Amino acid sequence: MQFQYVCNDCGKEYKADEIMYRCPECNRTEKPGEMQKGNLRTLIDPVYLKGLAKRESVAPSDFMPYPIPHTATYPVGNTPLIGPKRLREKSGCSDLWLKNDGMNPSGSFKDRASQLVAAQALHFGISTVTLASTGNAGSAMACAGAAYGLDIVLFVPHTAPENKLLQSVLYGAKVVPIEDTYDTAFSLSLEYTEKYGGINRNTGYNPMTIEGKKSISIELFNDLGRSIPDVMYVPVGDGVIYSGVYKGFYDLYVAGLIPKLPKLVAVQSTKSNAIATAWKTGDLSTIDTATTTADSISVASPACGRMAVDYINDSGAWATEVTDEAITTAQLELAAEAGTFVEPAAAAAYAGFNADLAAGRISRDQKIVVLLTGIGFKDMKAVSNAVSVPAAVQANMEAVEEFLHS
Ligand SMILES: Cc1ncc(COP(=O)(O)O)c(C=O)c1O
Repeated sequence: MQFQYVCNDCGKEYKADEIMYRCPECNRTEKPGEMQKGNLRTLIDPVYLKGLAKRESVAPSDFMPYPIPHTATYPVGNTPLIGPKRLREKSGCSDLWLKNDGMNPSGSFKDRASQLVAAQALHFGISTVTLASTGNAGSAMACAGAAYGLDIVLFVPHTAPENKLLQSVLYGAKVVPIEDTYDTAFSLSLEYTEKYGGINRNTGYNPMTIEGKKSISIELFNDLGRSIPDVMYVPVGDGVIYSGVYKGFYDLYVAGLIPKLPKLVAVQSTKSNAIATAWKTGDLSTIDTATTTADSISVASPACGRMAVDYINDSGAWATEVTDEAITTAQLELAAEAGTFVEPAAAAAYAGFNADLAAGRISRDQKIVVLLTGIGFKDMKAVSNAVSVPAAVQANMEAVEEFLHS
């Protein structure tokens, strides 16, 4: 498929016949304390896209820059779209949907990008993929590596949830837990790739991490009977998932398959709000520290912040900030009232929906999709303060009755 790159910041165009990361002119030209610069937009040939509108049906693979090999070996996507009966009744939103991307092979949305980066590596005959991750991108890339036979080198903050690290080790990645933050792991992984070669899959840095995620929008378009949501809630750390979701709808729009873009609401924790703050103030600075307990969205210097801010404006939406307490409440609500157990970062999107509904920013008759990006089982510690398993009960009816009825 024909595609090219365009720098999100300076607008310079680049041919896409070799692997590119950020715009070489803008990469690292940001001043200290500014959001990272030089993200590349991948522009698929518009004539090709318009041709898709004539087809009876479209699939995510029709929109991908590289052919996805052996999809059956790593079956990513086609995740459930839940119509949550009890949450609809409770909220009064009868057209509320939950897209459960925790049902991907490694348990998160990140499988989507990892599959495309694996396709990119196979396309160029490269066998090593290096990355930094807060946990999920790493376990997804490790999972893709196991499925496709690629070597994965993974830099993660040592504080990442243990199950995400264990999972990555199990899949066979070389896991390097760093005694520092994700932002430092990010820089180290770039240095390592420069020295030892291979592909770098850092989120936002490799434009395929944005492109790979757009499959969700094509799926939603199909799931909703070739229509789009009015409003969609996306949890945001680096801003790459958000940018990928936007890009999927943008490509559908360029193809002429949808008449407008949905409003894509960027949800952040008040304790990791670099993108929300930049969107509100227009000041594209980083924040000093990100301390949210929703580890996957804890980012001080977002890798795709500038692009995400542009896309929030282009989709006519807004950024919503939620407290960590509201995130925990949303996590428990999704589990107990929709049977959907997600990790805190994913629950942030639902907390954003709750906050906007309460504030009257959305209306009850709208078609609303909440994107649930990761499964809860990866991080049981996150709920250990909120729930616990009762102590053992003696094996007789009296004790059972005492336990259940007193
Ligand atoms: C489960 C989950 N949700 C949301 C996000 C946020 O995505 P991004 O950092 O691209 O904004 C991540 C990122 O790691 C994640 O793992």
